[in-house]
Amino acid sequence: MSTQGEIVVGLDIGTTRVCAVVAEVDSRDGITILGVGMVPCRGLRKGIVANIDWTVRSIREAIDSAQTMAGVEIRTIYAGIGGSHVRSSGSDGVAAIAGGEVTRGDVDRVLEGARAIPVDADRQILHVLPREYTVDSQDGIRDPVGMAGVRLGVKVNLVTAATSCVQNVIRCAERCGLTVADVVLQPLASAEAVLSDDEKEIGVAVVDIGGGTTDILLYVDGGIAHTSVIPVGGNNITSDIAAGLRTPMAEADRLKRLSGCALGRLVADDEEIEVPGVGGHAPRKTARRVLSDIIEPRVEEIFAVVRKRIEDTGLLEQLSAGVVLTGGAVLLQGMPEFAEEILGMPVRVGMPTGIKGITQLVHGPEYATGVGLVKYGAQVVCGDPTRTPGVASVPPPRPRAGSPAEAAEQSKSSGFWDWVKAAF
Ligand SMILES: Nc1ncnc2c1ncn2[C@@H]1O[C@H](COP(=O)(O)OP(=O)(O)OP(=O)(O)O)[C@@H](O)[C@H]1O
Ligand SMILES: [Mg+2]
Repeated sequence: MSTQGEIVVGLDIGTTRVCAVVAEVDSRDGITILGVGMVPCRGLRKGIVANIDWTVRSIREAIDSAQTMAGVEIRTIYAGIGGSHVRSSGSDGVAAIAGGEVTRGDVDRVLEGARAIPVDADRQILHVLPREYTVDSQDGIRDPVGMAGVRLGVKVNLVTAATSCVQNVIRCAERCGLTVADVVLQPLASAEAVLSDDEKEIGVAVVDIGGGTTDILLYVDGGIAHTSVIPVGGNNITSDIAAGLRTPMAEADRLKRLSGCALGRLVADDEEIEVPGVGGHAPRKTARRVLSDIIEPRVEEIFAVVRKRIEDTGLLEQLSAGVVLTGGAVLLQGMPEFAEEILGMPVRVGMPTGIKGITQLVHGPEYATGVGLVKYGAQVVCGDPTRTPGVASVPPPRPRAGSPAEAAEQSKSSGFWDWVKAAF
């Protein structure tokens, strides 16, 4: 298949499955989804690679099926990373404005200053996420380039991760013959896929409930104000069902998906389910209400911890757009309703938006991270200065002739970046 633009691939390595999303990024058509590969993965524990061989096998299968569907060869990927080792903290930086007007170079210098804080020897900085800039005494500035002044300041959110966990992700991808263009925080990618600019502006929380972890990311005044990871997810619900109904894990997962409900009161009293037995025991019938009675306390616990985390940041009142749920576990019936009750905010389920092509392949909250990684990669190849590749220490793919990236190189001041912002 011949392509005009840049091929960008997001590789979401999750606790339960690996998902590869292939897209073509083009200045005229934006992001066109070409193919997806989703295969189960048993190589991770709570978002962290615990078995390299199993993870490599799943990545290989996911990449193979994505490239067969897309009809392109995959060489470079943007990988997601999650897990409780990820931490975020505030920092700031100050720089003199050399020529009386803020340039991109001044912004780079002030961001460099903000990241110059001591980090533990076994950790590395994943992202430096600007919250707001100040020029002299004026604060709350989103993009200071072109403004007049003598002193530029920035407040950032620094995201750090355990170096070994980052390196293991890179190692797994490299063992599959892939080059890692960058490693991106998973909830940052999910937010990229599902949030509108309006939501970011008035304040919003993204809560991604996967198999092993629940990730939180808060946007306030258009900038990322907080991110954290809770080591509980959909697999805990499955374990509760397996133990409560004395059924194998695979059957518990199937029952959860087909008949599970987060809110017991949404289930009619006379509904019945069939529960397969373990160790040769015959299947038996039980009320569906019993299943939801097992699920409900675990879901309540997850949302109660989410609420506590948000309250602890002191930003709860600033989340006027409420909460957007992503991740496979939010497909459970009754999740948004229950979340709304416990969090006391408007809640919606986030589907990937701003994409073209075979969008039905990625239509679901479980694809948010994979699509978000593609969107992040699209911003890098299109020259977004805030999306400079970091941890992987590998240069992004060379722009092809006539590609958006090459156009960005050639026309840094020609309004090209305005197109990128409008397109994504
Ligand atoms: N239809 C469904 N109903 C209920 N739960 C579901 C459904 N589909 C998937 N899940 C659950 O969602 C979880 C997987 O979600 P997801 O694919 O987002 O996780 P992951 O990315 O592999 O994990 P993590 O992000 O925690 O590393 C599993 O616990 C799975 O049982
Ligand atoms: Mg995930």
